[in-house]
Parts: sequence; C-alpha cells; structure tokens
Amino acid sequence: MLSHLALTCVSLLVTFAAVRWFIRDSYKLDGFSQKHVFITGCDSGFGNLLAKQLDRKGFKVIAACLSEKGAADLAAAASPRLKTLLLNVTDSAGIRSAVDFVSREVGERGLWGLVNNAGRAIPIGPTEWMQLEDFIKVLDVNLVGLIDVTLQFLPLLKKAQGRVVNVASILGRLSLIGGGYCPSKYGVESFSDSLRKTMHCFGLKVSIIEPGFFKTTITSPDLIGDDLRRLWTRLPQDIRDSYGATYVEDYVRMQTFSLGMLCSSDIAQVTRCMEHALTARYPRKRYAAGWDAKLIWIPLSYLPSFVADFVVSMLLPVPEVGRKP
Ligand SMILES: NC(=O)c1ccc[n+]([C@@H]2O[C@H](COP(=O)([O-])OP(=O)(O)OC[C@H]3O[C@@H](n4cnc5c(N)ncnc54)[C@H](OP(=O)(O)O)[C@@H]3O)[C@@H](O)[C@H]2O)c1
Repeated sequence: MLSHLALTCVSLLVTFAAVRWFIRDSYKLDGFSQKHVFITGCDSGFGNLLAKQLDRKGFKVIAACLSEKGAADLAAAASPRLKTLLLNVTDSAGIRSAVDFVSREVGERGLWGLVNNAGRAIPIGPTEWMQLEDFIKVLDVNLVGLIDVTLQFLPLLKKAQGRVVNVASILGRLSLIGGGYCPSKYGVESFSDSLRKTMHCFGLKVSIIEPGFFKTTITSPDLIGDDLRRLWTRLPQDIRDSYGATYVEDYVRMQTFSLGMLCSSDIAQVTRCMEHALTARYPRKRYAAGWDAKLIWIPLSYLPSFVADFVVSMLLPVPEVGRKP
C-alpha cells in the first residue's frame, strides 16, 4: 500500500517535471528583425541551410563562406537582408576583418548570435595511418579556428548578451574513428562548457549541438574512401602487411555501408536545434540532433568503454594480425 503510494507520488512528480520542462523549452523570444547572427562554414550543409532558414525568419544573417562560389550561390538564394563574407577560420587576420565588418553592421546593438559551424573531417582512418600534420589540419579548423573566432567575437556578443552555438558531434563523446576529428570535437565540448560557465554572469548563453550522422559533404563516402586509399598508399610496406592486402578496400566498403545505413538526409533536424538555441528564452546547454544521436550514440557514451569498443569493432574490419586462424 505504502509502496503503491510512493510510486504514484514519484510518477506525478516526474510527469510534472516533464510538463514544466516542455513548457519552459517552448518559450520563444521575439524581435528577430533587430538581431544579427554570424555563421561560419555556410557554403554547404548545416551552415548553408541555417543561413537560409534564419533569413526567412527575419534575422539579419551574416554568412561566412570559404569560397566565392559558395558565397555567391547563397546570396542568390536568400533575401537582400542576408550578407555574405569570405572567411577561412584558420586565418586569424581574416577573422579580425570579419569582426570589423560585423561591428559596422551591428552598431551599438552588438551581435546576437555566433554559430561556429565550419568544420572538416578528413583525414580520418586508423590512428596508425596518421602523421602529426593530419591531426593538425583538422584541429586547426574544428577547434583552434572555433576558439579564435569565439574569442575575437566575444566583445560584440557580450554587448548584446547574445548566444554562442558551437557545433560539436556525437564524436565529441565517443571516439569511433581515428584522426583529428574526434579530439577536435571533444575539445569543442570542453571549450564550450568552460565558456558557458565563465560567461553566464554576463548574460551570454552557450549551447552545444551534438549531431549524429547526416548526409553532407563531410560524410561523403567517396571523399572519405579516396582519402583512406591515399593514406594507405603512403604507408610503409611492413605496416600494410600487418593489416593485410585487402584491408583498405574492406575498410572503405564497411565504412560506406555504415554511413549509408546511419546518415540521415533530413539535415533540418540539426538546423532546428541551432534555431532553438538562438530563439528560445531558455536555450538548452546541449542538443542531441538525430535519432541515432538520441537513441544510440549518447546512451552508448554513458556505458562502460568496452561496450563502445565492441560496437566499433562491429563497424570496421579486423586487421590480418588480429584475425583468428
Ligand atoms: N554531417 C554530419 O554527420 C555531422 C555530424 C556531426 C557534426 N557535424 C559538424 O557539422 C558542421 C557542419 O558540417 P556539415 O555536415 O554541414 O558538412 P559540410 O557541408 O562539409 O560543411 C562544412 C562547412 O565548413 C566549411 N569549411 C571547411 N573548412 C573551413 C575553414 N577552414 N574555414 C571556414 N569554413 C570551412 C566547408 O566549406 P567547403 O564546403 O568549401 O569545404 C563547409 O561549408 C561541422 O562542424 C561538422 O563537423 C557534421
């Protein structure tokens, strides 16, 4: 009888907490037409879609693209309100020029939103196939570039008591692949957590987006496969022998199959999270984007490491030396 009463009380409390959370989560701000948002990596993928989505909502979007073609295509697809500029996030002087441009645009209002979205993945593959510069190439864009952009834009964001939205990944919680990508995304998680804590008292809010797997250029099996073959051909013969002659093609085949199974084409699932982080009265600290992130990867990241290791071993081939006779 007593345990029945306790169970009912707990269920009511949980239901109340969930309803309260949903209501709080749905509160939205207004006055978007007076708010500026700066997004990096808008040539393609999430950044490109977000720029158009926020533009349609009335935001003053400043979209940074890596290439002139990317910028021209985006400008042609958006309203005249949307401004584009060229930015390579590994170029500190370029970031300074972008800050100057944005300060002139925002004036005394400051910058409402910074979305650190630019990123690259390759080279990815077995860690032993990598050289130091392979790690640096990726870390420079995904982590050092993101930190540089954030630090340089911080005064403008502080002025507006704005939002920073950093794109990490479920690979910032689970190291499913070798190369600089996972370390860079773990770094984004950590940098964002410390930024959130230190800027909280100034009214600045920081959100982390953790997408699962989505079909964009970064997950293109052809690009990843070609790069894996490049890494393989530069390996010394004794290392190749330890993996076995067919290993690289087995790896490419299994990776292509896994990406085909896992990658969702509905990239709006990610941009909806980004939009929520910029428009909600109470933005979340973390957004898991995609069914695979919510149901597989994030839960897996809380389980003991041997479980995650087992899952990875199912997704990739075993080198010749590790195969049972
Ligand atoms: N797709 C996924 O499954 C997935 C999952 C988790 C996290 N993410 C993250 O989501 C973000 C966006 O990726 P996406 O999936 O939309 O792939 P994407 O289409 O390749 O977008 C990445 C963008 O970043 C740009 N970029 C690359 N290097 C840059 C640099 N040095 N400076 C400035 N811009 C640069 C790319 O330009 P170019 O196209 O000209 O190279 C591209 O526009 C990335 O941070 C990625 O790590 C993606």
